[in-house]
Amino acid sequence: MLDKLNEIKEIALNQIKAAKDSKTLEEIKIKFLGKKGEITSLLKLLGSLSAEEKPKFGALVNDVRNFIETELDKFFAEIKNRELNEKFLQEKVDITLPGRPQKIGVRHPIRIVLDQIEEIFIGMGFDIEEGPEIDTDFNNFKAMNFQDDHPARDSQDTFYINESVLFRTHTSPIQARTMQKMAPNPVRVICPGRAFRRDDIDATHSVQFHQVEGLLIDKNVKFSDLIGILQLFAQKMFGEHMKIRLRPSFFPFTEPSAEVDVSCIFCGGKGCSFCKHSGWLEILGAGAVHPNVLKTGGYDPEIYSGWAFGMGAERIALLKYQINDIRLTFENDVRFLKQFR
Ligand code: PHE
Repeated sequence: MLDKLNEIKEIALNQIKAAKDSKTLEEIKIKFLGKKGEITSLLKLLGSLSAEEKPKFGALVNDVRNFIETELDKFFAEIKNRELNEKFLQEKVDITLPGRPQKIGVRHPIRIVLDQIEEIFIGMGFDIEEGPEIDTDFNNFKAMNFQDDHPARDSQDTFYINESVLFRTHTSPIQARTMQKMAPNPVRVICPGRAFRRDDIDATHSVQFHQVEGLLIDKNVKFSDLIGILQLFAQKMFGEHMKIRLRPSFFPFTEPSAEVDVSCIFCGGKGCSFCKHSGWLEILGAGAVHPNVLKTGGYDPEIYSGWAFGMGAERIALLKYQINDIRLTFENDVRFLKQFR
């Protein structure tokens, strides 16, 4: 019995010493100390011993048991420590490695142009107003003095949602909204936003585009103020040497109305293929706010006057970056987009 006990002690110690990982140690623990382990089965033999021998032998078995347990704990701690160190070594981060550059997004060319326009007008004391892309027929047309039979109301041009709700066809409904909100206080705003028109899409036509509306209402507003502001805008946007030119035109919401050209940004006015040898590029529509528009907006046209303009952001961006197809501005081809900053 005693020999057997010593033998078990020795085998256990050898196995513990030879164990290479914590899993093997667990197995050894079960093999010797577990419910069906060698030590436990030795304890079961106690019953066959005499009353005298029982406590002596029991104590011996317990000694061996404690010995094995202590050794197991000792080696377990050692191996755990080693395994942890190996794991740390494997997961070690080389902090001297150069970082991987993160891709940073760029601004869309239309956004760049809108930002520039906004900055110029904010610098001249204008506020920014926005409105919903889906608006009422009233704000888009009626408040802007369109007669009921005006051709622009034709469903050919307008995406209607129902009889009185539509995708705005220009940013001018923001004029109406601003007047309703501000009357009878003075107004000095620009209104950037998207507009929609039914059209067949090709290199120069799109069903969605961006405009920047301008609106100024006050007492004693003069048409020459409009010309001065637009002249300043052209210089800040395209360069000091820029000139503007007004040609008579028609809009239901302005009277008188004008189309405004800037000197060709490519040839400076000498004439080239971009300006069709005229020296001028058309960039916006403008005019004095029609008395009917003021009245509907809540202003007394006898006391207040104003002017408004509307320009196309795509037109400016396409010219500025010499983009030859408007579809590039909404197809989101990364090869195109990443050229801009
Ligand atoms: N709303 C006009 C358009 O879409 C532009 C414009 C705005 C003209 C304001 C005059 C005054 O073409």
